[in-house]
Formats: sequence, C-alpha cells, structure tokens
Amino acid sequence: MSVRRSRVVGCGGYLPQRVVTNDELAEKLDTSDSWIVARTGIRERRIAADGEYTSDLAREAGVAALESAGVSANDVDLIIVATSTPDQTFPSTATKVQAELGVTRGAAFDIQAVCAGFVFALSVADNFIRTESADRILVIGAETFSRILDWEDRSTSVLFGDGAGAVMLCAENGAGTPKDHGILATCLHSDGRLRDLLYVDGGVSTTQTAGHLRMVGREVFRHAVVRLSEVVGEVLRAAELDAGDVDWLVPHQANKRILDATARRIQLPLEKVIVTIDRHANTSAASIPLALAEAANDGRLKPDHVVLVEAMGGGFVWGAGVIRW
Ligand code: ACO
Repeated sequence: MSVRRSRVVGCGGYLPQRVVTNDELAEKLDTSDSWIVARTGIRERRIAADGEYTSDLAREAGVAALESAGVSANDVDLIIVATSTPDQTFPSTATKVQAELGVTRGAAFDIQAVCAGFVFALSVADNFIRTESADRILVIGAETFSRILDWEDRSTSVLFGDGAGAVMLCAENGAGTPKDHGILATCLHSDGRLRDLLYVDGGVSTTQTAGHLRMVGREVFRHAVVRLSEVVGEVLRAAELDAGDVDWLVPHQANKRILDATARRIQLPLEKVIVTIDRHANTSAASIPLALAEAANDGRLKPDHVVLVEAMGGGFVWGAGVIRW
C-alpha cells in the first residue's frame, strides 16, 4: 500500500556568536566548571546578542536548511516554528520568519511544547504531509532561553543556551513498510498535573511579564528518564522496528546523564548517541534540529540510517519520532 512519507531533504543550524564558558559564569555565580560538567556535561553555551531575536536565529537556520535541501523559499507550503521564547506574544515568530524569507504563499504558525517542541512540530508537519495538506514544510526549532533565565539562580541559569535548527520535509511516496524513507512514526504525550515541576513564573494573562524559568531539577530528571524510555519503546513499536535497528539516537540535549541513562535503558551503545550538550547546553526546542544538522552535515547521518529523536519538556510534554534518513 502506498503511503505519503515526510522525507528530510535538508537540515540547517544557527548559533549566536558569543560563547559563554562555565568559568565565565563562575565569575558571577557560586558555581564551578567541574560541578557543571560533572552534573550536566555542559562546558559552554551560546548567548544571543542584544537585539538578536528568536526570529533571527530561526531565519538563519531556515535559510541553511533550504540551501542544503536545494528548495527555494517560495516553494514552501508551510513554516512551523517550535519556540517558547517568541519575539512577541503575537504575531507568531513563524510569520516573521516567513516574511523575512520572502515567502508570500502558504501558511506559517508557532508551536509551543517547550523542549519537546521540535518533536511536536515534526509530528504535526508529518500529519500535514500524510493528509495531503502540504508537500513541502520547513520545521524550525528556535529559542533565546537566555531571556527567561534568572541569572542569579545557579540551579537553572547554567543549564541553557540560545540557538536554532531546521529541517526541510518533502512528501515522497513509500510502500508503507519500515524500509521507507522519511518519518516512520511519531508519538506525543502530555501530563499537565506535573506542570509545577518546570515552568516560567510569569506570562501575559497572569503577570503581564515574561517571567523566569523555575525547575525542580531532581524531579524533572527522574520523570525524564522513565518517560523517555517508555516513549522510545512505543515509537519503535509503531515504526515496526527494534532498538537494534537504530543507527543514531538524537535526543533533546538537557543533561548528559539523561542522554546516557536513556541510551542504556534501550541498550544502545553510547557511540550511537549524537551529543551537542557540551557546546550548546540545553537550547530547548532547538536542540534536536541543531544536533541533526550537525550530524547530517558532518556525514554521520547517511541515507537509509534509522534516526530516533526524543524529548521531554515543561508541562510535562514528551514525545519521540523515528526517521529513516
Ligand atoms: N553549581 C554548584 N552547585 C549547584 C548548582 C550549580 N550550578 N546548582 C545546584 N547546586 C547545588 C544545589 O544547591 C545542591 O546543594 P545542596 O545539596 O547543598 O542543597 C546540590 O548542588 C545538588 O543539587 P541537585 O539539584 O540535587 O543536583 P542534581 O544532581 O539533581 O543536578 C540538575 C541538578 C543538573 C539540574 C539535574 O537535576 C537535572 O539535569 N535535571 C533535569 C533538568 C532538565 O532536564 N531540564 C530540562 C527539561 S526540558 C525543558 O522543558 C526546559
């Protein structure tokens, strides 16, 4: 049976220029490079310049993905930007990116699922393609978390960075088997009862401010390992594949210990995990597409490889996807 698949035909990433090392943070905070590296695996992060907005990072990543795909911006039917740090409450960051890319047709909207935003956006995009509502979709994850951090709180401010990544999806007919190229399956979940473990203490309707990120780190860690292992098993079953078929795990980069624990639970060797957290820190919705862009462009991801993506974020929200490259 012929099935419409969403094939990844290009990837791009963009990082702000300014590198902030752990040592630089330790000049102002009661922390140290050794604590941050041991607990998280993070060595440095990028921070957006004054006047550099989420839409700027998103646009640059989008341009890079279009170029690597050889697709012209005006052939894009839909632009989805996953972000929790939009330039403005409205209009969406996606419409700004659309205008800056010179796109005058199709549609554009944002998705907000915090660190799982890219996986949620990928799943939505895949459904647009499967249902013949679009043929070419640019999916971007872009964040400036530096703008919602409490820089005096050492337990959260050392964990995050700014950046953007993008993938270009094109419709392609497959046979409906796990050997097809493109997105084979996605699974999404939310549990709003756990929203007080990771949240921002402000918002338009509540405080009329952007607020600052707050997190009960140890609890988030505990839930993340369990939920991510579950959803990885679920998505592999949906794709009719086993952990042994996975060539690369491209996880949301929140904590190196979470990455390692999830890989161990599905018995995947650590050499098969794409790791960027040491240089990017946690860039929320941008972390997976940034890692995909890095691994695709340096030749690690090759045609036919099975790529597993997974993420969890505030809400809680979590999800996973399986892509045959
Ligand atoms: N430097 C030095 N000491 C610190 C720092 C720091 N930057 N931060 C916290 N500490 C101290 C704490 O105060 C505490 O001290 P105490 O024992 O005297 O009270 C001690 O270190 C241990 O603190 P814990 O919070 O228990 O440390 P833990 O080992 O759990 O590591 C961490 C903390 C890194 C936050 C970890 O819990 C974690 O990674 N959790 C998951 C985070 C995550 O995944 N977040 C992203 C989710 S996605 C999203 O949507 C944003």
